[in-house]
Amino acid sequence: MCPFLLAGFLVWFSAPLAGQKKDLDARVDSLLRLMTLEEKIGQMTQYNGFWEVTGPVPAGGDAKKKYDHLKSGQVGSMLNVTGVENVRKMQEMVVKETRLGIPLIFGLDVIHGHRTVFPIPLAEAASWDLGAVEKSARVGATEASARGVNWTFGPMVDITRDARWGRVMEGAGEDPYLGAKVAAARVKGFQGSDLSAPNTIAACAKHFAGYGFAEAGKDYNTVDVGTSTIFNAILPPFKAAAEAGVRTFMNSFNVLNGIPATGNAFLQREVLKGKWGFTGFVVSDWGSAWEMIDHGFARDLKHAAELAVNAGSDMDMESYGYVNHLKSLVEEGKVTMGVVDDAVRRILRVKFELGLIDDPYRYCDENREKTLVGAAEHHAAALEVAKKSIVLLKNEGGLLPLSKNQKKIGLIGVLASEKNSPLGSWRFGSIDSSAVSVLEGMQAISREVRFAQGPSLVSGVVDFGQELKINNTDRTGMKEAIALAKKSDVVVLVLGEHGLQSGEGRSRAYLGLPGLQQELLEAVYAVNKNIVLVLMNGRPLAIPWAASRVPAILEAWHLGSESGNAIAQTLFGDNNPSGKLPMSFPKTVGQLPLYYNHYATGRPGPKPDVFWSHYTDESNDPLYPFGFGLSYTAFAYSDLQVQVLGPGRVSVQASVKNTGNLAGEEVVQLYLRDKVASVARPVKELKGFRKISLKPGEAATVRFDLSEEELGFYSNTGEFVVEPGEFEVLVGGNSNEGLKGRFELPKK
Ligand code: NOJ
Repeated sequence: MCPFLLAGFLVWFSAPLAGQKKDLDARVDSLLRLMTLEEKIGQMTQYNGFWEVTGPVPAGGDAKKKYDHLKSGQVGSMLNVTGVENVRKMQEMVVKETRLGIPLIFGLDVIHGHRTVFPIPLAEAASWDLGAVEKSARVGATEASARGVNWTFGPMVDITRDARWGRVMEGAGEDPYLGAKVAAARVKGFQGSDLSAPNTIAACAKHFAGYGFAEAGKDYNTVDVGTSTIFNAILPPFKAAAEAGVRTFMNSFNVLNGIPATGNAFLQREVLKGKWGFTGFVVSDWGSAWEMIDHGFARDLKHAAELAVNAGSDMDMESYGYVNHLKSLVEEGKVTMGVVDDAVRRILRVKFELGLIDDPYRYCDENREKTLVGAAEHHAAALEVAKKSIVLLKNEGGLLPLSKNQKKIGLIGVLASEKNSPLGSWRFGSIDSSAVSVLEGMQAISREVRFAQGPSLVSGVVDFGQELKINNTDRTGMKEAIALAKKSDVVVLVLGEHGLQSGEGRSRAYLGLPGLQQELLEAVYAVNKNIVLVLMNGRPLAIPWAASRVPAILEAWHLGSESGNAIAQTLFGDNNPSGKLPMSFPKTVGQLPLYYNHYATGRPGPKPDVFWSHYTDESNDPLYPFGFGLSYTAFAYSDLQVQVLGPGRVSVQASVKNTGNLAGEEVVQLYLRDKVASVARPVKELKGFRKISLKPGEAATVRFDLSEEELGFYSNTGEFVVEPGEFEVLVGGNSNEGLKGRFELPKK
């Protein structure tokens, strides 16, 4: 390249000097003015990584073409290229060999940590600890940026009400209020306060929008929901991410009411870039522009590219629509130069903000890579977050915590010795089988732990892209497990899902314990009822058999690198569990979609006859409600006070006392019901929560100051309204029980 000959080059290339600093938009515009249409389209194109860049590039095929495109400035971003050496080589190629030398932005799914793996996002949401959530994203950003990554495809902020959907593990669960708070915390964690710092990365709110409402929980399926759900349930976490300054959005694979999200101008242009004033860029999901052909929305790839770009999808991930067709679409007048320029401006702006234009190698420091990736303090943070994410579901007779002097502990279950599965899904950057297993964690605390694996859960290869084969036939290990149970005083049974049973493309039609695990559970129970069931799973499970019989149940999700230590420390009482469920657990899959903030219906019941909204063969209640979680101590709620301070201001307070013998943390939750409104409102909605820490006997007054934000809702045309009238209040430790009050909201 010979950019020094180009007029205006110095304006955008030179590092800003004090007093000479052009503002960002001026720098973006001056660079844009230098670009040809092909170069602009290049910025709008993202390719998947190919590792050959560090070695010989194979002749022919995709890789060769991509390589040529990189060298000719037809690519603006790469995904899945990591490691300082790889990133530097690719960046050098683009900076040195293309005409303008505009650096690439390197994207990766940094979903729950990177080399150091944190709990899956659903588990982190169970901590209800926004500081912990932010910390996890911070560490993920620190490690990923030290490996050359500039941009994560996270957080996933999709609300979901159907545990069959495999991607529930990636989000914050079923509630838009909690989801919005978690979304903002994650954005803050990834991006920090200075995007150009070498340890921060751009975040990406995904999948815009509606993806979590895939019909019947089947991934990639149709989404068909009403406007009230779009405005009140689906969009709020995205809006919160935008308000927290998220620099990118990703659209999604699904159609939303007949329009694919990637070609959806209402979402991307009207709402996101219009109403919300979003100044970052939108990347498509992988091939999602292409998929509009299969949806029956685009005739061919050229048409798909036209629809996507006009709808506001700025960067094309792996559809090849823009690189192949956008030029002729502009020449034919089907896409205006204004649309292209707007997309490129947005992309360049983020590259400037990241500091990439000023220093393309800002994130390429071998020393940082060596010292930061997998650092001891990151593991310490992962352990803390993992401990906070555990939810105690049952503890009859105070079976937990186990005494450290407890004799004859039988640890049973193949997941107990697993070092790979606890890392969960979406953990690019981690090292296979690097998690601390429960067996290792428990043996580090007690010498009394004997282990029997029981039957295997998975047969064959475990691979991110392949269907898992669950073992339903091979009972090897069953006898030994039962024998160990017989001679143990207490059995810790670790059951659940393999880490790759949830995540993308991993929907399930059955939500019980997979494989032979239910059989193992019943066989162990037949010889020893003193069972602590440790669940490892990426979604709510339907476990009514266990819930009604097994005395103690600990929900441990997939907790990441420090999984076994976190679980063991909780089992032996070094950690008092404080997590609360971010999704309702069903009794049976037939209850799905199941969520606490549902509408009342005109036949709420219960009634003595059959003519009310219910099942004839199962109750409407969840097995465990949203917000539920126990502690080794107990909390008592009293003295609810509700005060209306004005038309849009209400104060609610309650006293919470630790009535047990151990220090513990409680998540105090506030729910509202707007009794009568111009659009029917749910039976209750979370509108506040506070995680507090109390010593034995200690009490605290928890106060919630409600403003219009909590008191209002979105109308069916997307206007935020606050309506006067009666509200019910619930303050308690979960969505199902607590102190009840009411207030009348006056007219403005
Ligand atoms: C497809 C997934 O839907 C998306 O979430 C992810 O970021 C991309 N693949 C890139 O890996």
